[in-house]
Parts: sequence; structure tokens; C-alpha cells
Amino acid sequence: MAEDLQIVLGNKKEQYQNLIPQIKGLLTGEPDLIANLANIAAALKEQFGWFWVGFYIVKNDELVLGPFQGPVACTRIKKGRGVCGSSWEKAETIIVTDVEKFPGHIACSSLSKSEIVVPLFKNGIVWGVLDVDSELLDQFNKNDQLYLEQIVALIEL
Ligand code: SME
Repeated sequence: MAEDLQIVLGNKKEQYQNLIPQIKGLLTGEPDLIANLANIAAALKEQFGWFWVGFYIVKNDELVLGPFQGPVACTRIKKGRGVCGSSWEKAETIIVTDVEKFPGHIACSSLSKSEIVVPLFKNGIVWGVLDVDSELLDQFNKNDQLYLEQIVALIEL
């Protein structure tokens, strides 16, 4: 597929529905994990303009920074720490409407105000997380969860 993204305006559902087939196209025929994570982060950032979009990957019992789009970020997060470490520990998606109210939130940037973290599974084990941050409060809901979980399910390890 061509390496350019067709961006649509409209509501978030329409944006996701336009984006998901394009992400499938980007992943098709490309077996390299880092390349695929990089393109997913770029596609999400380009379509939605979020502050930070990226992946952390489990390595030696820590989350280590992977491909991302946005400002520089913390490189290592322990299990149970912050939103990412909690999503990993609980093996579930976490939506935070106001990061200041999340106990133990790791502030990579004081500009980040709300976030969603989606775990990546293989055979029921979490091998990484997708972390999306916004500089606005309350930017993520169950719809984002639904579509972002569909997107990460496309990743083959
Ligand atoms: N906010 C995250 C840390 C990662 S950065 O925001 C990129 C957390 O508390 O897990």
C-alpha cells in the first residue's frame, strides 16, 4: 500500500473506521514488529493529533520505551507503576480522564492531562502496551477503548 495516509474529518468513530483498514494495509506483508509499531503510532498521531502516542514493550520484567510519536518520554516503567505499569499488571485497558487524580501517575510531561493505555497480548500474556496521551482532560472513552483494542489486535508478534 502507498505510504501515505488518507486523513478524514468527522466524528471519532468515522475517523477510526477510516483509519483501521489503512492500518491493516500498512501491516500487510510486513513482518517486522518495530516497523509495524512505528507505523501504527504515526498513523494514530497523524489522524488524531494526540500529544503522545507510543508503545512500551516488556523486557526483563520492565516496560521499555518502544516506537512512539511525540515528545521524549520515560524509558523504563516497572510493573504496577503509573498507568502503563498498572495496565500491564491488571492486563486490562485503563482510561484516565484526569492524570492528576490517578495515584502514581508517571508524569513524563506536565502537559499530559488524560490518557488511555491498552495492553498487547500474545497467548493471554501482556508483552507491551499502547499508551495514548492528550494535553486535554477527558479525551478518551469506551469507544476509544473499542477501536484501539481492535487496532492492537492486528499486531502480530
Ligand atoms: N503516563 C504514563 C507514562 C508514560 S508517558 O506518559 C509517555 C504512565 O503513567 O504510565
